[in-house]
Amino acid sequence: MGNILELCHVKKIYGEKENQVKALNDVSIQVKDGEFVAIVGTSGSGKSTLLNLIGGLDTPTEGKILVKGKEIHSLSRKELTIFRRRNIGFVFQNYSLMPVLNVYDNVALPMTFDQGKQINRKYLEELLLELGIWEKRYKYPSELSGGQQQRVAIARALVNKPALLLADEPTGNLDSGTTVEVVGLLKASSRKYNQTILMVTHNEAIAQSCDRIIHIEDGRILSGAFLSPGKGGDVVC
Ligand SMILES: Nc1ncnc2c1ncn2[C@@H]1O[C@H](COP(=O)(O)OP(=O)(O)OP(=O)(O)O)[C@@H](O)[C@H]1O
Ligand SMILES: [Mg+2]
Repeated sequence: MGNILELCHVKKIYGEKENQVKALNDVSIQVKDGEFVAIVGTSGSGKSTLLNLIGGLDTPTEGKILVKGKEIHSLSRKELTIFRRRNIGFVFQNYSLMPVLNVYDNVALPMTFDQGKQINRKYLEELLLELGIWEKRYKYPSELSGGQQQRVAIARALVNKPALLLADEPTGNLDSGTTVEVVGLLKASSRKYNQTILMVTHNEAIAQSCDRIIHIEDGRILSGAFLSPGKGGDVVC
């Protein structure tokens, strides 16, 4: 099994001069295919910044990010958009659903972007059922609770069966029972489709149940950046 993700000495600095914020400071990470990784750290430590960079939504100030061996920030805008659509799924902290689309169409959205690709209605409906939002499929986001919107966002992120799923506190608005269910579903999906998942969580028990925990503080990785030696953890940076 290869490394789906490699970060080499990544820095992200926001702002200029005296307003500079070092959001990420010399971050190197390896993640292999199919791993389910928890990302933990206090508020403002750089977790969302990390996911945004890996997903190609933002550019590092320094360093390299390789997804499936491709240095994503060397791709053109158009290439990056296509690469992202085919390989990466996102669940954002604020769900970012389309208010004018109902649940079904929100989930179908990533499928409709890929022209020529048939909408896999069977898989879409399976996801709606598994996530407990089937009854809500004709409702609009404004008619749903926070937890329900979050589950719609998770279904949307999974619908293209991405090789890499980036989830920023996907269970932040769910009660503890639903949290366990949703994480179970992500784990099952990860195993079934050999998906790699990076999930930000503040839930200690959930983090402990993942394959690995990456702990980030003040823009630096405290622990968990690399695989254990002998488990494919060759140093690449
Ligand atoms: N667009 C931006 N412009 C300027 N500073 C930013 C920007 N985005 C993030 N930051 C700063 O970078 C640091 C890391 O932010 P980030 O959002 O990655 O933290 P986080 O770990 O996701 O926090 P939380 O748990 O609260 O979501 C913070 O100090 C934040 O203020
Ligand atoms: Mg965040």
